[in-house]
Amino acid sequence: MVPIIEVEHLMKDFKIAKRETGFAGAIRSLVKREFITKEAVKDISFTIEEGEMVGYIGPNGAGKSTTIKMLTGILVPSGGSVRVNGIIPYENRQKNAKNIGVVFGQRTQLWWDLPTIESFELLKEIYQVSNERYEENMATFTDILGLDEFLDTPVRQLSLGQRMRADIAASLLHDPPILFLDEPTIGLDVVAKEKMRTFIKEINKERNITVILTTHDMEDIEKLCKRMVLIDHGQKVYDGEISVVKDRFGKIRTLVVDLEESDCILQLSGGKVFKEEGNRYWIHFNRDEVSASELIAQITSTHNIKDLTVEEPEIESIISRIYQEGFQDLPNPVKV
Ligand SMILES: Nc1ncnc2c1ncn2[C@@H]1O[C@H](COP(=O)(O)OP(=O)(O)OP(=O)(O)O)[C@@H](O)[C@H]1O
Ligand SMILES: [Mg+2]
Repeated sequence: MVPIIEVEHLMKDFKIAKRETGFAGAIRSLVKREFITKEAVKDISFTIEEGEMVGYIGPNGAGKSTTIKMLTGILVPSGGSVRVNGIIPYENRQKNAKNIGVVFGQRTQLWWDLPTIESFELLKEIYQVSNERYEENMATFTDILGLDEFLDTPVRQLSLGQRMRADIAASLLHDPPILFLDEPTIGLDVVAKEKMRTFIKEINKERNITVILTTHDMEDIEKLCKRMVLIDHGQKVYDGEISVVKDRFGKIRTLVVDLEESDCILQLSGGKVFKEEGNRYWIHFNRDEVSASELIAQITSTHNIKDLTVEEPEIESIISRIYQEGFQDLPNPVKV
């Protein structure tokens, strides 16, 4: 296996101007600026092999976009090293650009005021794509992504779904072996999301493009990636198969009960209340240690249950639980 992306002890600090409050504070800040350091990426290492599709996930502010920006060469690391297809991105941004396609779902890479087709034509020139290859790629992308519906429309007038389709097609015009997708399905409706996923899956399979995918939609990850790299506060907390996390955390079930009374203290052996609202209680339990019916029996010995459900965890809730409760119990070994 050939690593195509190598990240070692990567770090990125941002210096942020400290803001003082009030008018006098604002004046003071103007005269003498004080800075605080934000460690957006603290120490992250991973390698990605050719043809892999990896989910790069973590809570808001974890450092995902900052990492992607260092991989694309937009940002210079404060420490550690990055290699993308043998190139150090920030030292050789143009050469790196030839190897990568980038989609930032939050912001288009296209020329806002130009008809969409003109952005494509500009990119063709910038990347020196041959006429023949351009025609081929445009035909394929138009076919799968339905680009013809809006090629003459200025980018600023495109709907979000159209804009995202245009952006991903644009990122692939020059046949890069690597694709960075930072929230490529954000804001899309269910159908558009599904189409986008199908497209990503196809280009990864058919063209053997290596994909790093950042998203908050766990369905994207589950449908597209076998491996995920999970980061939090600028550090890697898990790197491995999604199925391992699912097996491990999938044992945890949630029992939701509506009791007749509120403000109850439920002491349960094998179960733990993690949320309550009015007279509704959410209880986590490990199905290997206690069964739902045993828990229910414990509760009914002291309280009256009006209604109950047992929830099976989806990857979505597994991940949100990991975000909320911390990463200590993540299964080993963590791949570095
Ligand atoms: N240019 C910048 N200047 C100062 N701080 C920054 C800058 N860019 C990012 N940060 C800070 O670095 C941290 C990581 O930001 P980053 O955008 O990488 O997070 P993220 O994981 O992509 O989050 P999200 O899921 O919200 O997109 C945040 O605390 C953010 O405020
Ligand atoms: Mg981000």
